[in-house]
Parts: sequence; structure tokens; C-alpha cells
Amino acid sequence: MTRVTKAVIPAAGLGTRFLPATKAQPKEMLPVVDKPAIQYVVEEAVAAGIDDILIITGRNKRSLEDHFDRNFELEHQLQSKGKTGDLAEVVELAELADIHFVRQGEPLGLGHAVSVARKHVGNEPFVVMLGDDIMDDHSTVLPDMIKQFDQVGSSIVALMEVPQESISAYGCAAVDQRDGALCRITGIVEKPAAEEAPSNLAVMGRYLFTPDIFAELEHVEPGVGGEIQLTDAIARVLAHDDVYGWVFAEGRYDIGKKIDYLRATVELALQREDLGPEFREFLSEVVRREGIG
Ligand code: UTP
Repeated sequence: MTRVTKAVIPAAGLGTRFLPATKAQPKEMLPVVDKPAIQYVVEEAVAAGIDDILIITGRNKRSLEDHFDRNFELEHQLQSKGKTGDLAEVVELAELADIHFVRQGEPLGLGHAVSVARKHVGNEPFVVMLGDDIMDDHSTVLPDMIKQFDQVGSSIVALMEVPQESISAYGCAAVDQRDGALCRITGIVEKPAAEEAPSNLAVMGRYLFTPDIFAELEHVEPGVGGEIQLTDAIARVLAHDDVYGWVFAEGRYDIGKKIDYLRATVELALQREDLGPEFREFLSEVVRREGIG
């Protein structure tokens, strides 16, 4: 079985749900505690054994590129001030993985963003990780999907149960043959009306694809919202191949949504050894003051 070594991280969306913060910077650069969201995603990929990462950039791509590049002036300053811990952290960041960038000329949709990775990915299985979806440190979704791929040899999509009334915000999968977290996808549709949704299983931001997704993306016409939808390409794969779902339940935050961003900040800060205890005290005070709980 081919080892999965490449990840594609689309980060070229307009981030309109997070204006005005995203007017001049990609939402993937919004800090969660002290790291931009995309750094969590890159670290998750590296922890799962991926060493080649392609970030799809749009307008305002500069900060993304700079973040993963060396900054000799900063390194020099840190060195001369004896801030060795900070220095090690910024140098390490530039050496996390082999990180490449490619431009999506226009934000024509997630499917289109993935299609521009074709040349870089070549004829190999690869993962797609949405740059605005972060998982907490305890999440095993990505390594689990990679492990499953060894068994099934077909594309796998991460799924999560959501309240039926929320399903219209997501891609939605109909499944059968559910065996623990693994199931077989029988149909998939982007943002269905709640009353027409085939299930309450929502597509979340982690996918493992065989390279034939690229051929299908070429035939996808603009769909929901006038965008080239990745979901529609997955539906086309289903016509001739199996696609599996991997169902997980927690630890994922869509930081492109203001309320989820706030949740992620609180949860991830609480999990930090250096900040957690003091932050927990502060939260208790807030809870007391606001008369919550
Ligand atoms: P979203 O739908 O969450 O991104 O896409 P968006 O379009 O920026 O969001 P809003 O609704 O305007 O706030 C999921 C991921 O796909 C990327 C986004 O950057 C995000 O990481 N994306 C989306 C692209 O790279 N290109 C696109 O054309 C669309």
C-alpha cells in the first residue's frame, strides 16, 4: 500500500464569516491562543507522519508564507537578547516540514482549490485538511484515517453527527455498513435543506483521497453558492468506486465561525500547561460574576 506523505491545506477562501478580521489577512492566520490556526493544522499533519505540505493561498498570502519561513532579523534579535526558548521555537517552525505554496487565482470554491494541487500531488493518495478547521491535541482522526486507508484502499472522509437543524451548513453523507467509526458512503450532498438531508452526518475538514478525485474535479460544474464543490467531486467518485466515512465525535473547531473560534480559544487555552491554571481561575471568576452555573 502506498504511504500517505502529502497534505493539501486550502487557505484561499475569503473568510466572509469572520469580517472585519479577515479583510486584510487570511482567516487561517487568526491566532488561537498564541499560534495562527494554520500552524495547528500543519503540526497535526506532521504528527501523523506527513512531511510534504502544500498550502493553497489566495490574496493576502504573504503572512502565510512568512510564517513558515526563516526570519533572520528576528532570529538575530532573539539570539542577542538571550531568548533561546523563543529562538528555538521560531527556527523549529520553519523546519516543521517541507512546505510549498501554490496560488488559487480566484476563490472559485473548495473543489477548485483542491484541483490546483494536482500537479504537486501527482499520482499518490493524499490528505486534504481545511486550514480553518483545527483539532485539539487529543484528536486521532487523521492518523486513524491514514491507518484505515491501509485496509480499505479507497478515499475516506471525516464525518461528525450534528443536530439535524444544523446539517444545511455542511456537506452531508448517507452511509451504510457502519462498523464502529468506519462506514461506507452511499451518497453525499452539499448543504442540503434540513428536511431533505439524507442523515445528520456532516462532512468535517479532513479527507484522504486517492488521486482520481482530480479527474472528477475537472467535470464538476459550479454548485451550491456558485462554487466548485469538493462534495460534488466525491459524489462523482461514488459512481465508480467506494468512498468511506470515518465518524468522530469531538475535538474539532471551525475557527472561520466566530462562536467556534471563541470555543477553540477557551478549550485550547485550558489545555495548556503554561496558561491553563491561571486561565481556569479567571474563567471561574467570570462564571461567578455572571451568575452562570
Ligand atoms: P469555507 O467555505 O469555510 O471558506 O472553506 P470561505 O469561503 O473563506 O468562508 P466564508 O463562508 O466566506 O467565511 C473551507 C476552506 O476552504 C478554503 C478556505 O480558505 C477554508 O480553509 N477555500 C474555500 C479555498 O481555499 N478556496 C476557495 O475558493 C474556497
